[in-house]
Amino acid sequence: MKKMAALLSGILMIGMVSCEYQTIVPNEVIIPDTPVDFVTEIEPIFTSVGCIACHDGKIMYSLLPGKAYTSLISRNLVDTANPANSKILTKISGGHNNKSFTATQSGLILKWVTEGARGVIPPVSFKTEIEPIFTSAQCISCHGGSLAPDLRANKAYAALTTKSLVKANDPAGSKLVQYINAGHNTSAKITADQKALITKWINEGALNN
Ligand code: HEC
Ligand code: HEC
Repeated sequence: MKKMAALLSGILMIGMVSCEYQTIVPNEVIIPDTPVDFVTEIEPIFTSVGCIACHDGKIMYSLLPGKAYTSLISRNLVDTANPANSKILTKISGGHNNKSFTATQSGLILKWVTEGARGVIPPVSFKTEIEPIFTSAQCISCHGGSLAPDLRANKAYAALTTKSLVKANDPAGSKLVQYINAGHNTSAKITADQKALITKWINEGALNN
């Protein structure tokens, strides 16, 4: 945190020197509290600042959307143990090929590294994450074929959707969730994490993935 403040104030100083005769108040650096999302918040920085004029994968390694994450990790440009020491920040901090990050952009990158430098978070998979819950919670001891919905592997998705027991993007309105929350039979065997997974899967569109 101390390092983050030092880095930010360093950048703000540069900004202030260049406008010392103006009486404007320097812009406040506003970094949101929510976790930083690589795809929507970090990748666009490299594009808008113009890093990709050179770092386009042809003459240099790529900072293009879809490629930047692999480059940053494989070239060790982020340091999660000491985020302020990340090369993606230190290399640019004094200006690099006439490009620099704004204080807000540096702050966002620093926060992203501090949060563990997460890449694209894959959506919940019905096949590998949801179906096994019905098996481990022993739902299939009753819903094993003869009683609808059939919650066995390879059967559950069709059974849940044809009977409209899940409503995409509406967990609260989904009968599956309502039954589980109401303590239906073996639903006590479903952990809080598993319930959260089911909710996330529905919020992501209840895909057959
Ligand atoms: C005009 C071309 C050009 C632009 C624009 C440019 N770079 Fe670079 N960058 C280079 C070159 C050439 C090197 C290799 C030489 C060096 O390390 O300075 C490099 C090296 C780097 C390195 C060190 C890589 C390593 O593996 O050690 C980082 C990090 C980096 N650039 C990030 C950026 C970022 C972020 C931006 C945008 C803010 C950017 N660069 C803009 C040309 C450019
Ligand atoms: C002991 C047997 C038994 C077990 C175990 C069981 N269920 Fe059921 N389930 C039933 C019966 C009987 C019905 C039909 C009566 C009703 O709606 O309550 C039913 C109905 C349902 C329905 C509503 C179906 C509809 O068409 O409206 C859902 C959703 C459901 N179960 C999900 C589950 C899930 C998820 C599990 C595992 C956590 C589970 N069940 C475990 C017996 C069981």
